[in-house]
Amino acid sequence: MTKRFAVVLAAGQGTRMKSKLYKVMHPVMGKPMVGHVVDQALGARMDKIVTVTGVGAETVQDYLGDKSDYVLQEEQLGTAHAVEQAAPILKNEEGTTLVICGDTPLLTKETLEGLMAHHEEVNAKATVLTAHADDPFGYGRVIRSEDGSVTKIVEQKDASEAEQAVQEINTGTYCFDNKALFAALEKVDNNNSQGEYYLPDVMEILKNQNELISAFQLENKEDALGVNDRIALAQASKLMKKRINEKHMRNGVTFIDPEQTYIESDVVIGQDTLVEPGVYLKGQTSIGEDCIIGAHSIIEDSQIGNGVHVKSSMIESSVMENQSNIGPNSHLRPDSVVKEHAHIGNFVEIKKATLGRNTKVGHLTYVGDATLGENINLGCGTVFVNYDGEKKHHIEVGDNSFIGCNTNLIAPVKIDANTYVAAGSTITDDVPEDALAIARARQVNKEGYFKKMPNKN
Ligand code: UD1
Ligand code: CA
Repeated sequence: MTKRFAVVLAAGQGTRMKSKLYKVMHPVMGKPMVGHVVDQALGARMDKIVTVTGVGAETVQDYLGDKSDYVLQEEQLGTAHAVEQAAPILKNEEGTTLVICGDTPLLTKETLEGLMAHHEEVNAKATVLTAHADDPFGYGRVIRSEDGSVTKIVEQKDASEAEQAVQEINTGTYCFDNKALFAALEKVDNNNSQGEYYLPDVMEILKNQNELISAFQLENKEDALGVNDRIALAQASKLMKKRINEKHMRNGVTFIDPEQTYIESDVVIGQDTLVEPGVYLKGQTSIGEDCIIGAHSIIEDSQIGNGVHVKSSMIESSVMENQSNIGPNSHLRPDSVVKEHAHIGNFVEIKKATLGRNTKVGHLTYVGDATLGENINLGCGTVFVNYDGEKKHHIEVGDNSFIGCNTNLIAPVKIDANTYVAAGSTITDDVPEDALAIARARQVNKEGYFKKMPNKN
């Protein structure tokens, strides 16, 4: 089988983004643009990907890791010059080479595969991915000869009036015979209005050698959207969001209002789960089947089992097992584990704690740095006092315990199984199994007190 290579152009400074963040690292639905591009290319079976980065692009390399090889383009002298940087790695290879820009996050592997299949089928030396543009201003125009093959591509600034009227544009994605590409690159000059080495000039060079240059037109031109500023970034996010939500709907997930639901690229959702408006699912999150993710919930880097009900709550780097529930208005902070059938009600904060099966934390409670067994009931207003101003300490509560309302558990402390803690207690000592702990001052009634107060008699 023909070997396939991809060169990802990502050395542009992205001045128009007005950002400290390297352009192609700007996320679109949670994933850097260059990540979308490289993952789609990998999906189209690449033998090797070479990413061309500019000075200050270490973040790109750190992020992509060994998905790609890297070459540095020290000065941005144009797209042809950028591709040429990959010569030491690719020049002598036989095969087909895709050139993609790192700032076109909506390109799909299906499009890339379609482009390469067409290129190989017609036996072209170069094929450009084109689109019809109602307003082609700013893009390179694709000039075809009468037989439909491509003669050349002219940039906006170099185009004649007749060429400017052409509405078929260069999307900036191409497919080349690898050896022909690198041979032609050596012949590209910068004799044009921008003084740059243009990659599209390779087309004309190959044409003049009587090679076949073809074009493959994209049906949905939005797929080729190039992000140069934050307005285009928001457009890309919106299109990506729609694409992601539709994928989940096709997989059997119900959305009340997909327009108002934000699901990042790597999130997994099981069948028959219902997602209400205003939900934001981020990072490496997975949601099981038959869940209800209620309005305005935010879930990040978390694993949610089957049949879980989340009501307007925030969950970060935590686990909720099958049939557990939370909310409204509660917060799981990182490293929390809520076991099966456990219940968290409203205004509860849990941090770095495990709640055993069937354990219930109904209202207004803080649980931090703790391990709770099964079938425990924490009364309203229980506070795990885990911080002494310097260090965090751990608290353990055994199975079947009942902690009365408004209790402070001062860490480190251990409450054994089958215990009661009286409401309003401040617990500083361990509580042994089967005991009732009461740690509060006894009530004193001062008889006749009201009448003794001035103006009350
Ligand atoms: C380019 C095409 C144009 C096409 C358009 C589609 C050229 C000369 N023109 O124009 O025909 O319609 O894309 O969006 O190629 N880059 C580098 N190093 C450089 C220059 C650019 O890595 O020295 C990268 C950029 O980061 C970017 C891509 O190449 O990812 C395209 O460069 P850009 O300057 O945006 O080209 P356009 O002017 O948009
Ligand atoms: Ca561009």
